[in-house]
Amino acid sequence: MSLEKRRQLTGEDLHAAIDDVQARTLALWPRIASDLGLPVAGASFRRLQVNSRRQDSRSVQEVTIATGQRFVLRAVFEETNTLRQRRFFDRHEQAANKLKPVFGVSSPKLLWRDQDRPFVLMEFAHGNTAFRELALTEYGFGDRSQTIRRIGRAVAELHRVSDVGYMKFWPKPLLIKVSKRAHALRSGDLSIPKPKRFLGLCAHLHRAGQRARGQVFRGASEHGDLHLRNILMSESEVSFIDYSNHDGVFPQRDIADIWLSNCPDHLASGGRAPGFGHIAKEDWAAFAEGYGADLTTDPVFRFFFALRLFKLWSGLGHKRPDQQQKTNSVAAAAVEVFEALLGNED
Ligand SMILES: Nc1ncnc2c1ncn2[C@@H]1O[C@H](COP(=O)(O)OP(=O)(O)OP(=O)(O)O)[C@@H](O)[C@H]1O
Ligand SMILES: [Mg+2]
Repeated sequence: MSLEKRRQLTGEDLHAAIDDVQARTLALWPRIASDLGLPVAGASFRRLQVNSRRQDSRSVQEVTIATGQRFVLRAVFEETNTLRQRRFFDRHEQAANKLKPVFGVSSPKLLWRDQDRPFVLMEFAHGNTAFRELALTEYGFGDRSQTIRRIGRAVAELHRVSDVGYMKFWPKPLLIKVSKRAHALRSGDLSIPKPKRFLGLCAHLHRAGQRARGQVFRGASEHGDLHLRNILMSESEVSFIDYSNHDGVFPQRDIADIWLSNCPDHLASGGRAPGFGHIAKEDWAAFAEGYGADLTTDPVFRFFFALRLFKLWSGLGHKRPDQQQKTNSVAAAAVEVFEALLGNED
């Protein structure tokens, strides 16, 4: 289904589309079970929460078979670039294999893949999403800094096993995109909330790019969509799901995703003192300790953090009118993050 068509779906149509996607997903089970030599009959399914904007075109199901063994069946029915999807699964498989010897960090094994379509059956990863795990610490369950340290350590391991060696950073191609966006905004071809501040961010990115230019860093194949709902945590294990990259090599981008994908969710609040990018100082300290690098003083990381903010802010230009309230709150948060970046500029 095209993006436009999907945006128009509301009410009953939306429910019908969701039901249809569920039914088509469950219909895959007999083929998968017989390919894997698992019993077809007696399986029960539980719908897992997917991105609400995509629930009419994709489905993730927890499958429990008669023996009690659990799996996750994920099916995407969007008109997607099949080769790209296949590469994402290859990336997932590669990470899962490389993480095997790493204690406490993993990716669920892909047990079955459709030859052409983005349909997979994978191992079930135990635990909560890291998002929920952090939210629980607000209610006194677990320790926030310790949870963030564990996430940092796991991400460091993921990047370590995905290492592509030392590289030099050249921001030019990325800055060309920034300039084009700024130009389109100025000439009225584009509408973005808080346009003057957005143009200020574009200028900041050019300065940040200058500072990071030519710096050496350790490249690693990116996860590509590393927000806290794509990280699962049990007491003993941190698992990564939902890889969305096959050729990006900037690990800094993954880390910026962690903090800004769900903006304003992870900004400093609850009395925590804000630090770089309006993330709590203590959160940065915990993450840096787990990850093993002081990110917020690194010019290359600073550039990618600002670039992630640019991506978030740009995306607010084409939100649906019924999401106005959410858009306004994200735009206000984006301004706050930007101001924190300006405050930290040397
Ligand atoms: N292998 C797994 N084991 C356990 N739970 C899983 C597994 N895969 C997915 N889930 C659960 O299902 C949810 C949705 O899965 P997934 O992230 O693949 O879908 P999505 O909504 O398309 O994600 P995104 O918004 O990141 O594109 C996850 O947040 C997680 O809670
Ligand atoms: Mg996901």
